Amino acid sequence: MASDPPENDYILHNESETTRLAFQHRVIRDAMNGRLVLAPIDLYKAPLQILDSCTADGLWIRDLQSSLPPNIASQHAFIGTDIEESYFPTDPPGNTTYHVQDVNKPWPEQWNEKFDLVHQRLSIAVSGDEKATQSAVRNLISLVKPGGWIQIVDLQNWTADGDGPVWKDFTICLADLISAVGSSLDRVEHVKNCFEGLGLIDVEETSIEANYGTRDDKPLEAIGKKSGLLTAQSILSVATTFPQEILTLPKARVSDIKAGLEKEMSTDPVSAHWRYKVVWGRKPE
Ligand SMILES: C[S@@+](CC[C@H](N)C(=O)[O-])C[C@H]1O[C@@H](n2cnc3c(N)ncnc32)[C@H](O)[C@@H]1O
Repeated sequence: MASDPPENDYILHNESETTRLAFQHRVIRDAMNGRLVLAPIDLYKAPLQILDSCTADGLWIRDLQSSLPPNIASQHAFIGTDIEESYFPTDPPGNTTYHVQDVNKPWPEQWNEKFDLVHQRLSIAVSGDEKATQSAVRNLISLVKPGGWIQIVDLQNWTADGDGPVWKDFTICLADLISAVGSSLDRVEHVKNCFEGLGLIDVEETSIEANYGTRDDKPLEAIGKKSGLLTAQSILSVATTFPQEILTLPKARVSDIKAGLEKEMSTDPVSAHWRYKVVWGRKPE
């Protein structure tokens, strides 16, 4: 008998979520100078086993595949996992599979120490409190082969000094939303320590700055703005339902942010930035 799918309490689950993520992917990739992997793994050494946890529709996997020569990419095996099966591509290539997996639940035993690279982006908050996050990170590390790498990428609690006032208020609402699910926008700041505490070596981290406002590259500027506005729509549709006690800003202000951001983003020039932290480490041989 097939088991029931896990209960999905992902707070941003809606019909435009994968569109929002695709725009955001472009902006983050640009901020990483076109690179998806900063961990110093040799992606040209085939075959590799690569896992993308909380993959949504697997865009990171597809983009990584197309960044490699086809004869190399086709030798690697890619696995994408997520709690939401409806996001998965319906017809992935033969070397790519998707599986429903809750990061807060035990992983399949046969995946223990299987992967040369474990990747997870923009999902650290889904585990909730610090203890649950540490446990989820420990479980991800257990999937890494000795000598293999793990890379975690997540949003930091930061806007640039000159960013627009509505962008800044929207970011405050985003932090409130993360707190409302029992997590914190600061969680990614603890990942490096966590990696080191769990015995990883060659642990490094860097911050990348993503531009969601005016820039010289106009097509990318349009994508960045769409990404920011779609994210605001998604976050604010939830944050506007919160009682005042869990909001930092007055409720009346929160209700105005969506329209205010649309106006602010249509002024030229407009400044809107977020930072993401990229952390990677290696499991000793
Ligand atoms: C913000 S999206 C990030 C998607 C993708 N990694 C990216 O960078 O675009 C978070 C993803 O985590 C998934 N998710 C939420 N809770 C989860 C859980 N407990 N276990 C596994 N995946 C979960 C959501 O369905 C969603 O696809």
